[in-house]
Amino acid sequence: MTFSRDISDLSESLETLISEANETVLRKGLPPGVSPEDGCRVVSWSVEGTVLFLEVVSGPHVRAHEGMLRLRKFLGQRLGREHRVGLRKLVLDEYVVEFSLPAEPGGPVSIPFAHAVEIEGRTCRLVLRDVEDGFIQRGSVDRMVKRLIHKVEAQGYEGKGEYWSLIEYHGPKNMVWDRDPTEEMAARGWLKQGPTKGKWFYRPPLAAVMRTMERIAVEEVLLPLGFREVMEPHHVPFDVWIRTGHMEGVPNEIYYISEPRTRDPAAWEEFIDHVAITREVPQDILGGLLSPPNAGSCYAQCPIIYWSFQGETVADTEFPILVFDRTANSNRYESGGRHGIERVDEFHRIEPVYIGTPEQLKELRERLVERYRHVFNDILDLEWRMAWVTPFYLQQAGQTGGDTEEGDEHLKGTMDFEAYLPYRGTREESEWLEFQNLSIVGDKYTRAFNIKSQSGLELWSGCSGIGLERWTAAFLAQKGLDPGKWPEPFLKRLGDLPETIKTL
Ligand code: SER
Ligand code: ZN
Repeated sequence: MTFSRDISDLSESLETLISEANETVLRKGLPPGVSPEDGCRVVSWSVEGTVLFLEVVSGPHVRAHEGMLRLRKFLGQRLGREHRVGLRKLVLDEYVVEFSLPAEPGGPVSIPFAHAVEIEGRTCRLVLRDVEDGFIQRGSVDRMVKRLIHKVEAQGYEGKGEYWSLIEYHGPKNMVWDRDPTEEMAARGWLKQGPTKGKWFYRPPLAAVMRTMERIAVEEVLLPLGFREVMEPHHVPFDVWIRTGHMEGVPNEIYYISEPRTRDPAAWEEFIDHVAITREVPQDILGGLLSPPNAGSCYAQCPIIYWSFQGETVADTEFPILVFDRTANSNRYESGGRHGIERVDEFHRIEPVYIGTPEQLKELRERLVERYRHVFNDILDLEWRMAWVTPFYLQQAGQTGGDTEEGDEHLKGTMDFEAYLPYRGTREESEWLEFQNLSIVGDKYTRAFNIKSQSGLELWSGCSGIGLERWTAAFLAQKGLDPGKWPEPFLKRLGDLPETIKTL
């Protein structure tokens, strides 16, 4: 600790104050019966000019950095009051944190901001050097420990299958064909590969099928249950994704957005000259004209819906809040996973979001599932099943192996709706397509965005992803491309299938 003046003359006062701190502030909050040794204590100290050197040891109950913040406050106040000397700066020259890991790591573990991470068996020694007080005050040391534990846990989940538990199955049903609908549609000119990676251009017949799916979802599921439409922007700032966990879970799948550094045409003149002369974009000049990304393209619609209620107090009569967005398209960098219209970098989804008491959401889930059953059985006539899976909100927050709440009657969690795709092989051996999901996430997002009710009701939330590409892929894979073989209730909602545009 650095003070505003030479404190060599204050040794006696320091001796008294430090003993007092050892007995009081550094022990505060110890559970009853725990030995004071398990708190935090100064074990040695010395003074050199303006600097007070301290050696501090703690047990698990008052972490040493927490103790140092308390001691700074205590010494700052008392020395200020009693000797008119100000405490200027607190730095941890060296900080050693020893803790147990949930398991022996399966491989090397590293972490930034650490001077060293030494692991022996299940004991981890994290060594930090030259730690500024701001870093500990923001809780970063605790999060380093949490992150190390998480990384070791994640090593344990590697290679283990995802959680999956069947709820219900509707089938078997007759399959009209066993072809890959995307390939067939490309041959017939129903769609065309997009101008950038993993995107499609839908021509009239397919656009009509997808819009019919959209109408079915809105008219047969959402409006009858009282959902109201909202329209959200599709740029998501980083702070929203830090709250939801996406910034840690899926930063490698985000399409990032950069703003121009300036809109001043003069600044862009050289860039424009290059484009005009070479018919190419000069990437190096462009780089200099852009700000670093500060947002990303929509990945799922719910984060911005939660953001829209951030910090707000909602009238009790509004619950459950039922809204849906179908405006923002989702963009995900899929890389190796792309296939057909079912795994793409840009997709169209309707996302209903619900916020209410746990009881309200439990009841809503039943009614939603009932409406979905009606659509998939009575209108689309699909062969499909429903299963509990690893919750999307854990997965997208990078917690794949995380808790699945089996003992909790699945009050929280994600259920996937999966369709059999005959072109992929047999029912038993092929991978079925997740064409929709439905989740209750507990209070994760209502807490993260500080959404409150007028009378302090316990608020949970959830969402459901209605992917139009996925509905369409499941339907066409089972029913083929000949409208003569499509179920009557679907045809009724489709009307006439438009012809595609003939090209030679
Ligand atoms: N937010 C949910 C998901 O990403 C539903 O779309 O799966
Ligand atoms: Zn969602």
